[in-house]
Amino acid sequence: MKHRKLGRTGLKVSEVSLGTMAFGRWIDEAQSQQVLDAALDAGITLIDTADVYGKGMDRDNPLESGESEYILGRVLKGRRNQIILATKVHGKVGIGPNDSGQSRYHIFRAVDASLKRLQTDYIDLYQVHRFDPETPLEETLSALDDLVKSGKVRYIGCSNFAAWQIAKAHGISALNHLHRFESVQPEYSIITRGIEDELIPFVASEQVGVIVYSPLGRGLLSGKYKQGEAPPEGSRAAAGERRIHTLLGVERNYHIIESLKPLASNRGWTLAQFALAWVLSNRHVSSAILGVSKPEQIQDALQFIDDPLTAEELAEVDRISKLN
Ligand SMILES: NC(=O)c1ccc[n+]([C@@H]2O[C@H](COP(=O)([O-])OP(=O)(O)OC[C@H]3O[C@@H](n4cnc5c(N)ncnc54)[C@H](OP(=O)(O)O)[C@@H]3O)[C@@H](O)[C@H]2O)c1
Repeated sequence: MKHRKLGRTGLKVSEVSLGTMAFGRWIDEAQSQQVLDAALDAGITLIDTADVYGKGMDRDNPLESGESEYILGRVLKGRRNQIILATKVHGKVGIGPNDSGQSRYHIFRAVDASLKRLQTDYIDLYQVHRFDPETPLEETLSALDDLVKSGKVRYIGCSNFAAWQIAKAHGISALNHLHRFESVQPEYSIITRGIEDELIPFVASEQVGVIVYSPLGRGLLSGKYKQGEAPPEGSRAAAGERRIHTLLGVERNYHIIESLKPLASNRGWTLAQFALAWVLSNRHVSSAILGVSKPEQIQDALQFIDDPLTAEELAEVDRISKLN
């Protein structure tokens, strides 16, 4: 497993990281343990979670959030120091008016709750899950800065932010001598390339780390879903994830997938292997967060990550994306 630098920091992260949104949501603790073991065996060092990950996400019940962190805390026992642990704050974790968002009040309570669930006394990368229009960035950044100074958090980052939002936050950090967002976590895959317009040029200019999520399009880029057919048994779509159903409703995605299949099979690769290699071919990506529901999917996805795609293959993917 190769490592890449996280933006301008000195921190090196595995170029593929493990997402744990499935832990306690679609897979139980025993399966989660197997997935984590397979990831660590493969050399993955960056593990991503969030305070909201759990069954509650599919049931709109914030009281059922936190299961991913609980499970991680238990299955990581004795191995905490081998990994870089990233989690997030923002989503609803309770029914009170201050149980979400990025107020100083909520951030201080949320970090302690995450540390307790994760059974650790520090978080390597603490990310705000999305932009909070209701809280001044000064308040959020000063609270996060205090967490870094207290040792509870080592680096801070953001997720789902537009370039202008990070630029604004960086300006506030610089003016007030506060730690700044060192990373951003956006969605990025062959079927979701929106970050190439503004965010990628911005992070290249400002040396911000980019930890991308859903590199396999939440499973679509495995080719397992067929237009007009029910999702295969055992898949995430069958388990009821809502966001994948949005992607499954977009006709363009099926055209792209069909056009990509010959490119993958020319190499003797699966579509999932090709899709992951394509994301890693972007040199601004620090790490791609792979989500898996079975341990064997890790070994499978990582089989060819050291073989870069050729310039001709990258150009062909661009052509397919533009055509569809
Ligand atoms: N910041 C945010 O807002 C945000 C949002 C979403 C995700 N994330 C993070 O990103 C992580 C990854 O997201 P994701 O799960 O959507 O990523 P993904 O890697 O695009 O999709 C994962 C799905 O792809 C399928 N898959 C994985 N490996 C495969 C293989 N080798 N062959 C065939 N199919 C394979 C599995 O589907 P089946 O389970 O159906 O087999 C798996 O559940 C999450 O766990 C979370 O940590 C962050």
